Amino acid sequence: MAAVELDNVTKVFVARARKGMRFDMADYPSGFVTALLYRLYGRTLQHAALKGVSLRVERGEFFGLLGPNGSGKTTLLRIVAGLTPPTSGSVRIFGRDVRGLRVHEYVTYVPGALAGGAWVSMALSAYENLVARARLLGVPERRVREVLDLMGLSEHAHKPVGTFSSGMVARLEVAAALLKDAPIVLLDEPTAGFSPEVELAFHEHLREVARAEGKTLIYATHHLHFAERFFDRVAVMKEGRVVAVGSPSELKAKLGPSSTVSAKVLPRGPVEGLAERLRAELEGVEGVAVRQLDEHFWEVRVVCRDAEEAITRLVPALVRANVLVRRIDVREPTLEDLYLSLIYGEAHEAA
Ligand SMILES: Nc1ncnc2c1ncn2[C@@H]1O[C@H](COP(=O)(O)OP(=O)(O)OP(=O)(O)O)[C@@H](O)[C@H]1O
Ligand SMILES: [Mg+2]
Repeated sequence: MAAVELDNVTKVFVARARKGMRFDMADYPSGFVTALLYRLYGRTLQHAALKGVSLRVERGEFFGLLGPNGSGKTTLLRIVAGLTPPTSGSVRIFGRDVRGLRVHEYVTYVPGALAGGAWVSMALSAYENLVARARLLGVPERRVREVLDLMGLSEHAHKPVGTFSSGMVARLEVAAALLKDAPIVLLDEPTAGFSPEVELAFHEHLREVARAEGKTLIYATHHLHFAERFFDRVAVMKEGRVVAVGSPSELKAKLGPSSTVSAKVLPRGPVEGLAERLRAELEGVEGVAVRQLDEHFWEVRVVCRDAEEAITRLVPALVRANVLVRRIDVREPTLEDLYLSLIYGEAHEAA
């Protein structure tokens, strides 16, 4: 049985504005024309934030949600958390429809970038703040020490929060959200303001928790290198739809095994026509590009399926073209390449 299952979920936000009302561009994600229409006609415009999303997340998975700003990640998480009702479609948690379910007993939602929310008293210590919150939630005090430790705040536990750096306040926010120890944890870009080593430790801990305790974690993020390293599976969202789901390696395999061979070279003569010449000599590779790096050096990039074969043919071809080779690097496709190709189309694959 899946931990979380969405079936054809849509969400339409309806915004209302009166004719001639002052408007703030920031409230109109679809841009100036929409804003102007509101101002002139006071029309009600609808925005479909989710357009038929179906997704299964298994128990114990560390699952990533990727996608550009406005693609619907937060909307999806809020619907699963029971904070926003879907317009249509169904959401099941451990096989049970969320309508009529006490969702908060199963799901913890950790919002991101809320540093210093209203619940925090700057005069009290981190420990005191968390204990007050734990009492409200009916959570034992032992859990306060656990979350402080988890967020690397134990040594600062008894300092007033007013003396904290903003990254420490951000970590305290996440600690507070994690007080409730639910089997499903939704994390919405929680690491804004974390320094890299804290962020790394946090992700390692989450993976550990998913593996050891069988918790299901759904994590929205823009950090593609973390996604590649930590998530069991990811869903890539674009304009309210899921455009790809799978493990990072499965998804990269779908992209095709193209690698990029990049040679830093020093031409001993004019470079005109070098790209065409290499294209002719390296027949069968997917692309060849030549660009100037600085006063002396140029870069030759070859996008190919078989890097060894390409290098073996590239070096003699360069020598014949009177070009010295300084270094050669091979870059295997990354999740970022896949993401960019899904979001922007094929053009970015070889870029
Ligand atoms: N309460 C709301 N009222 C109207 N429109 C909304 C509301 N919440 C979200 N939207 C719109 O729905 C779309 C999806 O927003 P959402 O916050 O889910 O995106 P996101 O993928 O989380 O983006 P980000 O990466 O910036 O956090 C956006 O166009 C957003 O403007
Ligand atoms: Mg968001």
